[in-house]
Amino acid sequence: MNRTHSIELLNVAVGDELQAVHQYMYFHFHLTDQGFEPLAVLFKRTAIEEMGHVEALAERILFLKGDVKMQAAGPSRPSPTLRRCW
Ligand SMILES: [Fe+2]
Repeated sequence: MNRTHSIELLNVAVGDELQAVHQYMYFHFHLTDQGFEPLAVLFKRTAIEEMGHVEALAERILFLKGDVKMQAAGPSRPSPTLRRCW
């Protein structure tokens, strides 16, 4: 696998991790608003954990002399397996 392809794949992973951060923070905000503080804290902690994954991927991209694309992935699509169940 060449360097450029590696950077592309790492950036796809960055997008997925950023999407996860957004989703966890979304639920954190709503759970806080609805008074479910212990669960809201759990979602916030998980979002911060996901940010750590972004950081690790970014470090690897920069090590490979690439540029980190800070763009969240789009909405997830149901897997082919799930689609069959519907
Ligand atoms: Fe992650």
